[in-house]
Amino acid sequence: MKNYAIALIPGDGIGQEVVVEGRRVLDTLATLDGTFQFEWTEFPWGCEYYTRHGRMMAEDGLEQLESFDAIYLGAVGYPGVPDHVSLRELLIVIRQSFDQYVNLRPVRLLKGAPTVLNHRDAEQIQMTFVRENSEGEYAGSGAHLYPGQPEEVVLQHSVFSRKGTERIIRYAFELARRENKSLTSISKANALNYSMVFWDETFDRIKEEYPDVPTASYLVDAAAMLMVTNPERFEIVVTTNLFGDILTDLGAAISGGIGFATGANINPERTKPSMFEPVHGSAPDIAHQGVANPFAAIWSAAQMIEHLGYPHYAELIVQAIEKTVVEKDVLTPDLGGTATTEQVGARVAQHVQQLYKTRS
Ligand code: NAD
Ligand code: IPM
Ligand code: MN
Repeated sequence: MKNYAIALIPGDGIGQEVVVEGRRVLDTLATLDGTFQFEWTEFPWGCEYYTRHGRMMAEDGLEQLESFDAIYLGAVGYPGVPDHVSLRELLIVIRQSFDQYVNLRPVRLLKGAPTVLNHRDAEQIQMTFVRENSEGEYAGSGAHLYPGQPEEVVLQHSVFSRKGTERIIRYAFELARRENKSLTSISKANALNYSMVFWDETFDRIKEEYPDVPTASYLVDAAAMLMVTNPERFEIVVTTNLFGDILTDLGAAISGGIGFATGANINPERTKPSMFEPVHGSAPDIAHQGVANPFAAIWSAAQMIEHLGYPHYAELIVQAIEKTVVEKDVLTPDLGGTATTEQVGARVAQHVQQLYKTRS
């Protein structure tokens, strides 16, 4: 029996509610398969932990996480702890310390899922964002001088290293080549005359190594418009940390809503564990009511099982989500239903069982 050691960080708000369902679906698959199992170790880190200990995670938290096969995270952030503290000291520090430099975010409209775009069907919204996840606008470099004084100055530097820019663009080209898809780069060189000129030059240089991959390059403002008017233009997309953050929420809006949006923080060299999480936050407005949509968390569990070497099971989980959406009987309120988080998770797990039995 193969054992996968998973670090479970439910975090705050609905994070705690949705990870239960992703875990349920993974355990269901492991039981069906019978050759592997998940060993979950839960870490109570987050904003509540902060109020008791004055820190978001244990002092040796990163060392504790290092030996796991993967990290499964719910969401971080809650009123009472400043967001820049809670997020930088838990989520972002893990992404950056473990060199999870690829943030892989599918924007994929499932059958039956609502889209704010008219006349679109599932085939037309099928993109994968490759978001730079280790530096750029999130580098955390800057200064706040003379606070409160007339001379007050705030600096927030974007950092684009040659290594960091090349590796994310190369990763995206490899993915596009493997999947036989086009690659679109999104930047903003007309205004950001150092960083984004460098990004574009790097993209153009690496492009020469992949003559078989069709490419496009858009400014981020135009790209935001085109994602709404012509989403079919985008297949694989590579962009910076901040642009990727913003555009994948837009991606969520055109592919079923934030309740579907998933993200994998990948360390491609596997020198440290990768981390899997829904794109959404802790949603304090609906927390503790048992009504959060668990699809995004379940989908990120699918990304995790793919990373562990079972892509066919990842696809099976996504199909189980799709079946749940299509049948419309068991959905949370954000999708017009009346079901609880738990009922939706249980329904997806049932579909996983049925799909598993009919597949062989
Ligand atoms: P949010 O994603 O938590 O919520 C935005 C809106 O979407 C809310 O109305 C919420 O009710 C709804 N929503 C989100 N997920 C949902 C789900 N699964 N089912 C149904 N509805 C859902 O974003 P926010 O309100 O901007 O941020 C709240 C907190 O979460 C902040 O502290 C923020 O910093 C943090 N945050 C954390 C992460 C993360 O941990 N990855 C991501 C985004 C925001
Ligand atoms: C996301 C989130 C985070 C980000 C925040 C919470 C720091 O919005 O994962 O999309 O900006 O990366
Ligand atoms: Mn975001």
